[in-house]
Amino acid sequence: MHPDIERVLITEGELREKVKEAAEMAAARYRGSNPVVIGILKGSIVFYSDFIRNLDIPVTLDFMAVSSYGSGSSSSGQLRMKKDVDTDVKGRDIVIVEDIIDSGLTLMEVKKMFYARGANSVYIVTLLNKRGRREYDIEPDYNCFDIENEFVVGYGLDYNERYRNLPYVGILKPSVYQK
Ligand code: PRP
Repeated sequence: MHPDIERVLITEGELREKVKEAAEMAAARYRGSNPVVIGILKGSIVFYSDFIRNLDIPVTLDFMAVSSYGSGSSSSGQLRMKKDVDTDVKGRDIVIVEDIIDSGLTLMEVKKMFYARGANSVYIVTLLNKRGRREYDIEPDYNCFDIENEFVVGYGLDYNERYRNLPYVGILKPSVYQK
């Protein structure tokens, strides 16, 4: 285990099983369609690549990057588009793949945006859900793991851009971010 990790929260085996199940659910929902599977960069990349390899339906792949200027407990958070998708989503079914839902701002705004562009449906898959932190009224259609408000890294998630390449989800030692 990495020396900065206090303990492993979700093992590689647990991730493999649950991600497969998430993909099977999405494929069942969109069999006969050719959904646009959109990864929200960067946190989702590892989850995304495992997820799509478990999808046994035709898909179009795309990515977007956004950053939030959330304002603590008030509801005036805003989203800034850093990289938009290339695909014309009008009339298409969308599967959004996200590593974590926290306040809910990112997914609420992204979902609203795709409907505003004429998407036929928007289905949200998340790896992790911090329910206790929600400020906006939105839930994923499928979530892999509910977690407490812990400092998690790995499997795409970072602290100061580090640890994204760990193959498991782990809890960071407080000494690392209290320095
Ligand atoms: C994280 C995460 C979500 C968002 C969730 O992204 O990947 O996009 O925050 O928070 P919310 O529910 O409060 O909106 P981050 O800005 O850390 O970027 P990253 O994915 O590049 O690490």
